[in-house]
Amino acid sequence: MKMQKSSFLLATLLAVALTACGKSDEPAPVAAPAPPPAVQPATPPQVTVAERVEQAAEATAEAAEEAADAATAAVAQAADAVEEAASAAVESATQTQGGTDVAPLSAVEAENLAKAKNCMACHALDRKLVGPSYKEVAEKRAGEDGAVAILAEKIQKGGSGVYGPVPMPPNPQVNAQEAAQLAQWILSIQ
Ligand code: HEC
Repeated sequence: MKMQKSSFLLATLLAVALTACGKSDEPAPVAAPAPPPAVQPATPPQVTVAERVEQAAEATAEAAEEAADAATAAVAQAADAVEEAASAAVESATQTQGGTDVAPLSAVEAENLAKAKNCMACHALDRKLVGPSYKEVAEKRAGEDGAVAILAEKIQKGGSGVYGPVPMPPNPQVNAQEAAQLAQWILSIQ
């Protein structure tokens, strides 16, 4: 009985030990950190490359953004410069043309227009008729700011009190462009 008991105990102990060994072996392969270490060495370089690519892309995007900003600023500056130049050109053109923007006629064309519009019934180039000579008008208005506009308006609407007691009646047969062209011509007469 003793032998049987002890051998049973031994067998039980062996079985327990084997089971324990088997159990302790089992989690080992499962929890074996073998796969992670195998992956880990491979992963860091991959992450680094990806990070580098990402950083490079970010840097490129930043550089592109900066370049775009610079380009936008340059374009805005250029637009400002063009605007300034344009307004300066308009200003100088306005000063020369007296605020009217018409192509000047040749002396012959202008005189024919004045004849056609009946201006020469009261005006001559260099002597007084009912109205002052155009030479006198040119001398009186020489160097005056906006002279073309002033005369063009008087040609259309009439005028009085500048050259004598006789007024000039309105000339409704003359449109604004013709009035400006006649004024330019009269001011050019010497
Ligand atoms: C009925 C006569 C008469 C006709 C037609 C006439 N004028 Fe006059 N014009 C005058 C008189 C008079 C004056 C002077 C008015 C004054 O003293 O302000 C005058 C003045 C002017 C002046 C000078 C205005 C100033 O203040 O410096 C111009 C320029 C002029 N005429 C152009 C014309 C033109 C161009 C026409 C044709 C579209 C025309 N006139 C037709 C009688 C006339």
